[in-house]
Amino acid sequence: MAGIKQEIEKIRDEIRQHDYRYYVLGEPVISDFEYDRLMKRLADLEKAHPDLITPDSPTRRVGGEPTKEFPSVRHQVPMLSLDNTYSQDELREFEKRNQNLLSGENIEYVAELKFDGIAVSLEYRDGMLFRGATRGDGERGDDITANLKTLRSIPLRLLGGKLPKNIEVRGEVYMTKAVFRKLNSEKETEGEKLFANPRNATAGTLKQQDPAMVARRNLEFSSYFMRLLDPSARGPATHLESLHLLRDLGLPVSRHVALCRGLWEVIDFCTGWEEKRDTLPYEIDGVVVKVNRLDLQEKLGSTAKSPRWAVAFKFKARQATTVLKAIHLQVGRTGIITPVAVLEPVLLAGSTISRATLHNEDEIKRRDFREGDTVLIEKGGDVIPKVVQVVSEKRPKGAAPYSMPRTCPACGSETIRVEGEAALRCENIACSAQVQRRIGHFASRTAMDIEGLGEALILQLVESGLVRDYGDLYSLKKDDLAALERMGEKSAQNLVIAIEASKARPLDRLIFALGIRHVGSGAASLLAGAFGSLDAIRDAREEDLLRFEGVGPVMAESVVQFFRQKSNRDVIEKLRRAGLRLTGEVRKSRAGIFNGKTFVLTGALSRFTREAASGLIEKEGGKIASSVGKNTDYVLVGENPGSKYTKALDLGVAVMDEDTFVNLISRSRKKPFSDDRQLKIDM
Ligand code: IVH
Repeated sequence: MAGIKQEIEKIRDEIRQHDYRYYVLGEPVISDFEYDRLMKRLADLEKAHPDLITPDSPTRRVGGEPTKEFPSVRHQVPMLSLDNTYSQDELREFEKRNQNLLSGENIEYVAELKFDGIAVSLEYRDGMLFRGATRGDGERGDDITANLKTLRSIPLRLLGGKLPKNIEVRGEVYMTKAVFRKLNSEKETEGEKLFANPRNATAGTLKQQDPAMVARRNLEFSSYFMRLLDPSARGPATHLESLHLLRDLGLPVSRHVALCRGLWEVIDFCTGWEEKRDTLPYEIDGVVVKVNRLDLQEKLGSTAKSPRWAVAFKFKARQATTVLKAIHLQVGRTGIITPVAVLEPVLLAGSTISRATLHNEDEIKRRDFREGDTVLIEKGGDVIPKVVQVVSEKRPKGAAPYSMPRTCPACGSETIRVEGEAALRCENIACSAQVQRRIGHFASRTAMDIEGLGEALILQLVESGLVRDYGDLYSLKKDDLAALERMGEKSAQNLVIAIEASKARPLDRLIFALGIRHVGSGAASLLAGAFGSLDAIRDAREEDLLRFEGVGPVMAESVVQFFRQKSNRDVIEKLRRAGLRLTGEVRKSRAGIFNGKTFVLTGALSRFTREAASGLIEKEGGKIASSVGKNTDYVLVGENPGSKYTKALDLGVAVMDEDTFVNLISRSRKKPFSDDRQLKIDM
């Protein structure tokens, strides 16, 4: 037993050393494969000897159940923000002020990168990671220890024998550009809302209630501040020494730090990095300049908002002007039609920009973008370039205001703009731009559950012309399938059987599978139970639909729109001819927690798309309305709410925040949300 214990400790130490080499020194000495093997060996040993598991074991990074809410923690020393400077002159003023306050001391500065991420505080007690928290409002933050433990660059226990063991560490959690790109491209495939930049993606990730989810996102950490928690202990005398100490303790510290003997060296560092910022694998939005000596820092002190001994030098937004050659329309996999600016290619921040999103019709109107205009484009902290404004002096004569076409550029169907929404949509289920995703949804497990019909095969079917919409699935023959590349006789046979079997799915599954916007599985079962047949739903008017608890105006409008399209009705006829079950039983609806209540949504929710939140409300018997009035029961408020929020306050309508909403829903479902992928469904 003693031997096993020793072996376990030895492997743990080895892993910690490798983490240190990888994350702190940036000099790994073993391959990922060997590292994984060590982890596996440790996990196996711990599984066989659970009594030997300790909380600081490298296998314990992802642990614990998803939480409903993060406990709030008070920062012993407030987490201040920094004053911003935007020019060399402002940096000189900072220097002048310091010299005045310190009556002519010779001041050394440390200049370091300003990571564009999320500030966190880590508390180590007796060398063990005790707690990790967000900055919050500076006074109080959220306890996100379980999430932070999943970051492999954050040591669960400190290194070094004689070094201090009770410390607070502050630093930035961030996401590299590569991880960000990969995450967004996955989101795109899933038809989910994209993150605007790595910083938002980091914030969104740290808010996750399920640490396992955080672990998958590969966040990084870099520390830039430490404080000894024992008042008697002797600590470093300068900021640079703090950084060295942090590194010795096993914490990652940026290697791009300069000790500057005068302001000109600071300015050199700032201008140098402003030029080189794009060579870094992560985003920075400036440089932080700090007085090096801690005794001088103390003399300078802080205001309520920020320390006097440090400033941020913020980089200018990266801008360029170019010509907006044309406005093209792009149909996304979810049917949203996005106007895209086709630009005269221009070099900006290390890449050639030739396209940029113009977001939506309202945005084009607001900024009055016209084809032929010279426009200003910008890459803020954002990775995705934006068209910011028109250079009006350069507008060519005769440039006409832009108006969005009323038909889908991919399939020619009439487009739809739902009241209160910015996006223009194509709702044709046979639209070539969407058909792959629609078939994927139709065949998915919670819909028609057609086993073996995966994304790659759907693409093959669509590209070969065998299938133009999901109605065509039912006329596929074994021989057609067997003739496809990488498809054997046996798999073709199995697929035909699976498709045949799906004909027996009950009506509610079929309704869900159709992919009507705002009709999730809950609403589908409500409609099936209320109307008893697909024909009855097809023939229902908005007012017929609205008679049922749980059907709100948004859903009713969407259902009517869906069946109004002839192309959609044609596909349904194919399903009828194939012998699918278009009828079911009429049922009484169950009482949901929002029965009969009318909701209005405003602002961006962090854990749901608007559609997913509406779906949940409707599933619980509530209705969605687009504007606040005296019949509104609740306004669900997200970040940056609009005028609907002020109106709610004016009218005295109850306001519900996202956390309360999640709590109510979770309680009703008796299961907390754990995975944002399930929630951010955008149908
Ligand atoms: S020092 C009291 N150093 O910038 C000073 N901050 O605008 C504490 N940040 O909230 C901050 N990189 O999130 C410092 N090298 C760095 C930084 C850094 C990024 C962030 C931090 C802070 C914000 C202030």
